Amino acid sequence: MLYRHDTENCFASAIGDQGLSDDEFASVLDEAATALENIKADYRSGALPMLSLAEAKADLEGLKLVAERCRRDFDNVVVLGTGGSSLGGHTLCSLADIGFGPEDGSPRIYFIDNVDPNTFETLFGRIGLVRTGFIVISKSGGTAETVAQFVVCLDALNRGVGKAAVAEQVIVITEPGDNPLRRLASKWGTLILDHDPEVGGRYSVLSLVGLLPAMIAGLDAAAVRAGAADVLMRAMEANAPGDCEAAVGAAIGIGLLRHHGAASTVLMPYADRLSIFGLWFQQLWAESLGKDGTGTTPIRAMGTRDQHSQMQLYLDGPRDKMFTLVMLDVADSGRPVCSGDSCDEALDYLTGRSMGDLLAAEQTATAATLAANGCPIRVITIQELNEKTLGGLLMHFMLETMVAARLLGINAFDQPAVEEGKDRTRRYLANMRLPE
Ligand code: PA5
Repeated sequence: MLYRHDTENCFASAIGDQGLSDDEFASVLDEAATALENIKADYRSGALPMLSLAEAKADLEGLKLVAERCRRDFDNVVVLGTGGSSLGGHTLCSLADIGFGPEDGSPRIYFIDNVDPNTFETLFGRIGLVRTGFIVISKSGGTAETVAQFVVCLDALNRGVGKAAVAEQVIVITEPGDNPLRRLASKWGTLILDHDPEVGGRYSVLSLVGLLPAMIAGLDAAAVRAGAADVLMRAMEANAPGDCEAAVGAAIGIGLLRHHGAASTVLMPYADRLSIFGLWFQQLWAESLGKDGTGTTPIRAMGTRDQHSQMQLYLDGPRDKMFTLVMLDVADSGRPVCSGDSCDEALDYLTGRSMGDLLAAEQTATAATLAANGCPIRVITIQELNEKTLGGLLMHFMLETMVAARLLGINAFDQPAVEEGKDRTRRYLANMRLPE
């Protein structure tokens, strides 16, 4: 197994009243059995292509060629898109760069998911466009933010480098058929890659949407899929929901909502490389489950930072949360934190310890403190964070979300409320007075 899934402290037997009783858990796990069987049937019939992507191999050769060209021709790659068209790739690329820049030989990758004019002025002011590539991702091809970003960037390329640069330096990913993004891309002669129309944005991380940026960053896309496939197979071959970590996680989350008012779910990884993963999870969970008056609110936290921030609320505020800590086996790793002249008697407790020892102690202490205060908490532990284990985590949470959606009786794959916002934006723009 790529990770350990420790749920003991979600139960009344361990944490008291706020935990699930055995009967409550048995009943929701029974429902999860049906949910998991339905997901298995859908997967076998090919109705869940976002899951089957974990086993796909054929497309990687073609993507590798595109990625190699980007790695050769560009010092910078700007990924334009929003929501599911941005967060999966960003999550994966965080394995390679957490803000200190890429490894030698890899371009620096920027993800821009807003239309803040200041961001674009800063971008054009600070990076030269001659060796900058743009990847524009929009499944629908009609999202106003992404189309606007594209137009602004192609205009800057056209003026700054020349018309040919638009065709050579822009790649567009969108679904087949007629849409504004595809029409514009065709007009300017850019490379257009197809987005699978059956794979929704927030479930697209294992498709070219997530993997192309990852490959440009120098990451092993096959390993991401292999990790996802491991977790998928474990779920598809589970004889009972209790053998599938994602089904157990969903059953606990929905059981705690129903019986103990846990209306929020906090995801708190302890690895900086999982910071964007927290945003990815937040979108996946919120946009998939927040429907028909139900769902639980995902809260993104980061260890150790939020021990000095949100933790006060978690321990002493409303009792309405379930916690998931994502930990790394980091003890004994990293540099010494107190040695020789850099020690002080007040820091005795650090003597002989490494930075990894401190992080290990912080994460274990936080989990124990939450449990001791009666807060339902599960711990996911990974030995080493790499493409394979990250792929496994991504699949875990996609499956957990799908099981949770079935327990809540809602469709995990649509987003009617988001669409309403997109429509209103268009109408407000139409009614805005144009500059004279
Ligand atoms: O997950 C989703 O479906 C959304 O978050 C979309 O990814 C987001 O709205 C962007 O849509 P599109 O890729 O069509 O531009």
